[in-house]
Amino acid sequence: MEKERRKRQPPRRKKRRSKIIPEPRIYPGFLLKNKKMESMVGLGLRRDIAEEILDSNVLTPDFLEFAPENWMGMGGMWKGVMDRAVEAFPITCHGLSLSLGSPEELDWQFIKELKAFLDDNQVTIYSEHLSYTKSKNAHLYDLLPIPFRQDAVAHVVDRIRRVQDMLERPLAIENVSYYTPVAAEMSEVEFINEIVEQADCKLLLDVNNVYVNAFNHSYNAKEFIDSLPLDRVAYIHMAGHEQVAPDLIIDTHGQAIIDPVYELFEWTIQKMDPVPVLLERDYNFADLEQIQGELTHLKGILNKHWEVKHESA
Ligand SMILES: [Fe+2]
Repeated sequence: MEKERRKRQPPRRKKRRSKIIPEPRIYPGFLLKNKKMESMVGLGLRRDIAEEILDSNVLTPDFLEFAPENWMGMGGMWKGVMDRAVEAFPITCHGLSLSLGSPEELDWQFIKELKAFLDDNQVTIYSEHLSYTKSKNAHLYDLLPIPFRQDAVAHVVDRIRRVQDMLERPLAIENVSYYTPVAAEMSEVEFINEIVEQADCKLLLDVNNVYVNAFNHSYNAKEFIDSLPLDRVAYIHMAGHEQVAPDLIIDTHGQAIIDPVYELFEWTIQKMDPVPVLLERDYNFADLEQIQGELTHLKGILNKHWEVKHESA
């Protein structure tokens, strides 16, 4: 089994340096406002748990993450809920439909409306998946892997740069979980590095996704993280997953985080400066104490390793 998994790993190639020199992009407001969110532990605002977050102390995240597509243009009662959340908490936004890897032109009308939403709610961290979700304008409702290829790097870099210019904010791109590489000509970590460097963007490091991919594709999670540009990480995701076969884990966001993922997280944050950390939970909200326990556990790990960095800053 181990041997078989090793075979599926695309061959590692020597890292190629980009010939494009990124122009410096400075977004002073972003850095200024973002600083206060360092070391915070947040939770996604979902309708199932909005009441518990806003009207009780069962769940006590430090900040909230919105999927902007689910809240833009909202009216009535849910607009009221959103306004109360924005009033009470710092906000990050994690997009679902930008579809950075699609061949079609970006949806500029959507991006224009997104900018207004981010401005209105003073959102400093906006992240998106390094994947595609649309084909010929059909929404596929899945995060599909972009082929790890040079032509895809050039395509995605151009799109990220144009989105950042339009939004007047850096974009943090997320390493996604995937179940098969498509026509790869470089490794996943080389692909991410080239894009982040050439696009001059930030990275959303999903530690659970690294664990899931490392298991499913038989690579070493710590070596992978060590090869990432950790100085570019603006935000971290943590989540649970489900092992459905001896050699397959599915990234679900519906289960508790397992100890090896906490261990990988603790190992990782010691190599980085403080950033906000989000607990991703998409469903399975029956046991709120368990979810609050995860927030507390994450906070404990952050305080253990990042307090000193704060004091010396
Ligand atoms: Fe994530």
